[in-house]
Amino acid sequence: MVLILAHRGYSGKYPENTLLALKKAAEAGADGVEFDVRTTKDSKLVVFHDNDLKHLCKKKGKLSDKRYSELKDYTVDGQKIPLLTEVLEYLKTTDMKLINIEAKVQGHEEEMLEVIYKYGMEDKVLISTFNYKVLEKLRSLDPEIKLGYAVDNRPDRVRRIGKLHKKIKLYSVNPFHNRTISTGRFIRDYKKMGLVVIPWFRRDFSKFQRFSQLKKMGVDGMIVDYPAEVKEFLKNGN
Ligand code: G3P
Ligand code: MG
Repeated sequence: MVLILAHRGYSGKYPENTLLALKKAAEAGADGVEFDVRTTKDSKLVVFHDNDLKHLCKKKGKLSDKRYSELKDYTVDGQKIPLLTEVLEYLKTTDMKLINIEAKVQGHEEEMLEVIYKYGMEDKVLISTFNYKVLEKLRSLDPEIKLGYAVDNRPDRVRRIGKLHKKIKLYSVNPFHNRTISTGRFIRDYKKMGLVVIPWFRRDFSKFQRFSQLKKMGVDGMIVDYPAEVKEFLKNGN
C-alpha cells in the first residue's frame, strides 16, 4: 500500500499548514499529513512554511522576529497560524497513520520531541528535514524516533543519504519526486539500504502519470497537495 500524505495539509484546496487544511486532509481520507515547523521570537513551535510572512499573510515581517502573541494579527486566508501543540492535539484524535513533521529550523530539537512525547505520538510521527545536523541532534536525543532525510536535487544532499543512514539510522528518505533523484535506480538503491521512500510533490496537480510511475517503482508513500484526488486516481488501478 502506498501511503498518501497531505502536503502542508490539504493545501491544494485549503490554506496550507492550518488546522483547517489538516482537518480536511483527515476528512478526505489521507493516510497521513506533512507540515512544516518553525519558531517564533519567543521560541514557540508553530506550523508555518516561510520565515517571511509576506507571501502567506500579506503583511510585512519575519516570523522569527514576532512573539507568538503578535501572530494573532497574521492569518493565512483567515486561518490562524497554529502551534505545534494544537496540531498534535488534533491529529491525536484522527486515525491517520503517519504524521510527518518537517523541521524548518535548527536548535529546537528538544522542544519538538517534548511536544511529541506530551501527546504520545512517538509511534506515528516521522520528523524530516533537509538539515542533516538537525537529524543528528534528534538521534542523539532519541534512539528510536523515526527520522527522514528530505532531499532535493542538491548533489551534496543526495550523496549524504547512505552515510547519514549508517551513522544515525534513518527511517526514510523523502526525495523530490522528479526524474533526477526519484528514478527507478535511485529508488531501488534507497530501498536496498532499508529505507522507506516517500517522494514529495509541490503544487503538482497535473502530474498524474508521475504518481502512477512512482507507485509502480515501489515507493512507500507520496506527499501531495491533493490527497483525495491522488488516492482516487491510484485506487482505479493506476
Ligand atoms: O517535506 C517535503 C516537502 O514539504 C519539502 O518542501 O518546501 O514544501 O516544505 P516544502
Ligand atoms: Mg514541507
